[in-house]
Amino acid sequence: MQEIPHLNAPEPFPLFDLGAWSARQLVVIEQSLFRWVAGPADAPAPAGLGDAMRYAVLDGGKRLRPLLVMASCDAANGHSSLAMRAACAVELIHAYSLVHDDMPCMDNDVLRRGKPTVHVKFGEAGALLAGDALQALAFELLTPDDASFPAGMQASLCRLLARAAGYQGMAGGQAIDLASVSLSLNSKQLHEMHRLKTGALLQASVVMGAACGFASPAALDALRNYGAAVGLAFQVVDDILDVTSDAATLGKTAGKDAAQDKPTFVSLMGLDGSRAYAQQLLAQALASLESSQLENTHALRALADMLVNRQH
Ligand code: IPE
Ligand code: IPE
Ligand code: MG
Ligand code: MG
Ligand code: MG
Repeated sequence: MQEIPHLNAPEPFPLFDLGAWSARQLVVIEQSLFRWVAGPADAPAPAGLGDAMRYAVLDGGKRLRPLLVMASCDAANGHSSLAMRAACAVELIHAYSLVHDDMPCMDNDVLRRGKPTVHVKFGEAGALLAGDALQALAFELLTPDDASFPAGMQASLCRLLARAAGYQGMAGGQAIDLASVSLSLNSKQLHEMHRLKTGALLQASVVMGAACGFASPAALDALRNYGAAVGLAFQVVDDILDVTSDAATLGKTAGKDAAQDKPTFVSLMGLDGSRAYAQQLLAQALASLESSQLENTHALRALADMLVNRQH
């Protein structure tokens, strides 16, 4: 006899639609970046600086860090308008780091986000100043002067971002990166470099989103662990894609790590080893989320999966 399907069986846990959630967030993220980076019409940035800033930030980029901030704010039930400021602030720091990373004194790249790099378009001094100005603007965004958010919250967001961007984070990691050309780093050294140059800002995105809301110390710890795993995995995947992908897909030059003799996870553990390691980090990230006991972690979960399994 044919089996009748159990029409009244309970629905499986509804699948989270990351595409729809991201699309909703991205509309506001793009509008906010446009508004804040464009500057007021009556007081534009002088001497072409505004053009270079807008060129660096608008019209491109996956916006993964802002999405992580918003997802973490969701998990911590936070103020979404403060989180949107934090999301854009992190993206401004990230955009500035890319502008400087591409300069001839660093990676000397001519293609970023499918366009000529900022120094190619605006000259080296223009790129340097655009990066400087974007970094400053990030902190201005976190400190609105209308007292709409508690001063303590603003201060802790500034501190988290400053730490992740500075010598204990991105800038420190970039220094190690440049000092490591042609060296073969051991696993501990490579982990440290990646943790700082890329992991710190991704982890800060998660922690800053949570800082816009309410998470217990234990939940915050779990989110920190999630951010660390996802942040490291992100750079492992960046190293993999540099070898396996192409400029048309990435919007940036491929094959440049080997060409510049940079130590990467691929040079340390090979392609298969790196892929397996990225999956292991994903599993760690998901286990940390599980242990957070936070209810609304669907977006964080889906983002971790997306950024480890991405193709660009
Ligand atoms: C590239 O970051 C630089 C790294 C930190 C590895 P992304 O891959 O997030 O770059 P965009 O923002 O999408 O251009
Ligand atoms: C850059 O790492 C990390 C930053 C802090 C900007 P990479 O040099 O590998 O980034 P891509 O590959 O140029 O985007
Ligand atoms: Mg670099
Ligand atoms: Mg680079
Ligand atoms: Mg790279």
